[in-house]
Amino acid sequence: MADFLRRDIWALEEEQGPWHPITEAYALAVGVMQGRGRDDPTSWAYQAAVHGVGFGEPTDQFVNQCQHNTWFFLPWHRIYLYWFERMVRAALTGLDAVSDDVKAEWALPYWNYDRGGQTASLPTAFREPTLADGQTENPLFTQLRDRNIARGGQLDPVSVSADGALGEGFFALDPIPGGTVGFGGAVTGWNHFDEAADAAPGALEQTPHNLVHGGVGGPGGLMSGFDTAPLDAIFWLHHANVDRLWVEWLHQDGRENPTESSWSGELFDFHDENGTPVRMAAAEVLDPEQIGYAYEEAAVPELLAAGAEGGSAMPTEPPPDRPTELVGATDEPLVLTGDQAQVAIPLAAPTGPALLADTGEPEPQRVYVNVEGIQGEENPGLSYAAYVNLPDDEDPSTAQGYHVGNVSFFGIELAGDVDQDHPGGHGLRYAFDITDLVNELREQGRWDPDRVTITFSPLRPLPPPGEEDAAEPAESVPPVRIGRVGIYYQ
Ligand code: C2O
Repeated sequence: MADFLRRDIWALEEEQGPWHPITEAYALAVGVMQGRGRDDPTSWAYQAAVHGVGFGEPTDQFVNQCQHNTWFFLPWHRIYLYWFERMVRAALTGLDAVSDDVKAEWALPYWNYDRGGQTASLPTAFREPTLADGQTENPLFTQLRDRNIARGGQLDPVSVSADGALGEGFFALDPIPGGTVGFGGAVTGWNHFDEAADAAPGALEQTPHNLVHGGVGGPGGLMSGFDTAPLDAIFWLHHANVDRLWVEWLHQDGRENPTESSWSGELFDFHDENGTPVRMAAAEVLDPEQIGYAYEEAAVPELLAAGAEGGSAMPTEPPPDRPTELVGATDEPLVLTGDQAQVAIPLAAPTGPALLADTGEPEPQRVYVNVEGIQGEENPGLSYAAYVNLPDDEDPSTAQGYHVGNVSFFGIELAGDVDQDHPGGHGLRYAFDITDLVNELREQGRWDPDRVTITFSPLRPLPPPGEEDAAEPAESVPPVRIGRVGIYYQ
């Protein structure tokens, strides 16, 4: 039995309203941490700096450390939350307004935005400017959020779905040009953004993780940027949910964590609740039980269990052991500014010796869409769903069969920083495995081997019911630039 149970924030609200004692205790503890100075490692400001500091600000082994676009994404954030949760619990000890039971048992709630009903909207306690007394400033509140989310609107269902991520068969795949990287992120060394040449987000980091950041933050909001996201108190509940999804993924047949010591042994620096430096590695946090907590709900979703063949949702075959080949790509960058956009990519017959001569295979075993060199000044908040060969008369919202993944922009402000600290500066990369869709279209005689289209369709939070016309005007969307969209065969 774990000592601490992390509970669903919407379940707390459903039980006792917005100010369940666990939620209220969190708000009060956040207030305590916000009152501490930036030099105190247990302060709110310092904890955000652990994730990221502004460009050019001094760094050490404790700040500007968040791991993204790498297989360290999940263990690093698990350790980060673990020490943060202990800091919150420690901050509660001096508070008279919090009962002894809550002090003894407090654990970080999680925000499962994918449970249907109202759960895709921000829990009420985060949207109220004041605490339950109607007077005291609410530390969970900020104005720096997407305007629909701030008013109680919901994240788009596509943005919050973990189905694609949970269907991944492998935690990390060996890096290949244009290929996908698995559930947990690309195999890299220490990687804050894209220092490593092979940096790319795993399926869970893509959706829902990155989309929820942009969806909640909107343009210019706290959750949209690397250096500001943890300043929004919902950040920690979002990450508790991402952490919970790692547990769910492992519950499925055949899923396992990496066994390489280059993953499990990499050490990361943090501070404990007393401000004392501590170091921890993935090996110490492979399972939450190792560090004393469990989740209220961590079962494999029925949807996946029911639709599964042989107990797992998707084939768990690794990709074939041969190189990929680029068979077509856009020849100029695509700039997205909030509207739907489409690119047509002419495909050449594969000529790679590895593809045809060596194996004698008439067709590629895998087909990937690779979206790379994604750059922009700031996260526009909204994300784009990507569709392959979407028919002209089809509305993207009802065309799930053609949906292959989502492109979003958490961290994009770092993509232009080309200097010593960011020698890469080459931007984000997303890859999607479209093999199943291609095979299906081929069987129906609808696959054109000479041409493919990719449609990017905007995903933005929905306005609250009855306030539909108040949506963000499209002209205010900061542009993002996609360097190249390529099709790879393997
Ligand atoms: Cu390191 Cu969701 O962020």
